[in-house]
Amino acid sequence: MKLLSTKATCNSHGQDSSYFLGWEEYEKNPYDDVHNPKGIIQMGLAENQLSFDLLESWLAKNPDASGFKQGGKSIFRELALFQDYHGLPSFKQALVDFMAEIRGNRVSFDPNHIVLTAGSTSANETLMFCLAEKGEAFLLPTPYYPGFDRDLKWRTGVEIVPIQCNSSNNFQITEQALQQAYKDAQERNLKVKGVMVTNPSNPLGTTLSRSELNLLVDFIEENKNMHLISDEIYSGTVFSSPSFISVMEILKERNDLQDFKYTDNICERVHVVYSLSKDLGLPGFRVGALYSENDEVVAAATKMSSFGLISSQTQYLLSSMLGDKKFTKNYLAENLKRLKKRHGKLVSGLQKAGINCLESNAALFCWVDMRHLLHSNTFEAEMDLWKKIVYQVGLNISPGSSCHCNEPGWFRVCFTNMSEETLKQAMKRLKAFVVESTGNVNGVTSQTTIQKTKSVLTKWVFRLSSRDHRDHQEER
Ligand SMILES: Cc1ncc(COP(=O)(O)O)c(C=O)c1O
Repeated sequence: MKLLSTKATCNSHGQDSSYFLGWEEYEKNPYDDVHNPKGIIQMGLAENQLSFDLLESWLAKNPDASGFKQGGKSIFRELALFQDYHGLPSFKQALVDFMAEIRGNRVSFDPNHIVLTAGSTSANETLMFCLAEKGEAFLLPTPYYPGFDRDLKWRTGVEIVPIQCNSSNNFQITEQALQQAYKDAQERNLKVKGVMVTNPSNPLGTTLSRSELNLLVDFIEENKNMHLISDEIYSGTVFSSPSFISVMEILKERNDLQDFKYTDNICERVHVVYSLSKDLGLPGFRVGALYSENDEVVAAATKMSSFGLISSQTQYLLSSMLGDKKFTKNYLAENLKRLKKRHGKLVSGLQKAGINCLESNAALFCWVDMRHLLHSNTFEAEMDLWKKIVYQVGLNISPGSSCHCNEPGWFRVCFTNMSEETLKQAMKRLKAFVVESTGNVNGVTSQTTIQKTKSVLTKWVFRLSSRDHRDHQEER
């Protein structure tokens, strides 16, 4: 008899994806410039460590916030007692104000329409539970964040149908790709409940254009029973032009132009997800939210949020921090400056190694083109290259196949979870690897080098599965 349930043991969690396996490999042999200089450098984790000093200096100046105090008096007992699911009103207000500030105050958010969750992970899953039945589907542009297989599908039984985007137009969403995905879902007998995007994109590091956003809104305008979810977890990381456009701005513009019919209820079918994991660099605090103008969704999600609440002391601390407008203004501007600078270091480091990446303007990673380093244009070759980069070069990066990219040879490389020195070291290793395997940095691979690296590879004992590749083939 099975000891565990099917749900607990089923494969749809995606934990044997190379995305998570790379983390495991890193954990076994983590790089440290002094204690383990030959270890693996973690470039597969989208953590923002660039602006901790700003947060720490605010904490030092505001000891009451983290010391359970208000006006010098302890509020420990109030915070320790059970809070209702709605969260602290002061925190909800501070969070919606922060979200509006990130969008240049071009839109505002009503605190009564926000549901607090333990990170975006929980917000995304909650939305799936609220909007779709088991076996119904959401369309997602590829490549997409590998965690979505777990967050959207695993416990809910919801399916993801890919909107296949590719490098020919820098992975932009086209009407043709969107309609094709819809057709694919219908051929699989899946009822489509909507479209979900991340804006800015994980893993592309790019923002959605106005025309892409209008295309998506048009699509749900045409399909009256569909929703549009916009995961805007990276909205505060847009460090270069074009600037960020939230789907809420598109709705506002179109409402102002009276573009929607009264009966369309589009605004009630668009939902935004947010979290402080990236913009403030606080993934450990587990602070997220979903925003919806749909009262029924807000009510259902609020009920569900009891499984993933944010602790009251975290809310208290952050309501104080985010309520400090001088601080948020300075933080957002300085963080963007640092992100831009660091992004430049990665791009130039890669260029020196003869590697290009998709031009990007946001987020904590680049979408890197290593197609010229593959021994063939296949996902097997992508896996082979990835294994070499993890074990031989000592860098954990995420293969495009783990993001369901339909072209082999792309990798997501994170640049904000390490020091500048570590990034330099990573680029040095990568350059040496490219020179060794191609004979130069312009990517012309000699046959002898391919043979040599192939024979080295076969000697390794890999416990890494080729599931990403298999999944990918099944999907096509
Ligand atoms: C697009 C996207 N959504 C959600 C998440 C999960 O974030 P959180 O830490 O808020 O749960 C991530 C984390 O990497 C992400 O990139």
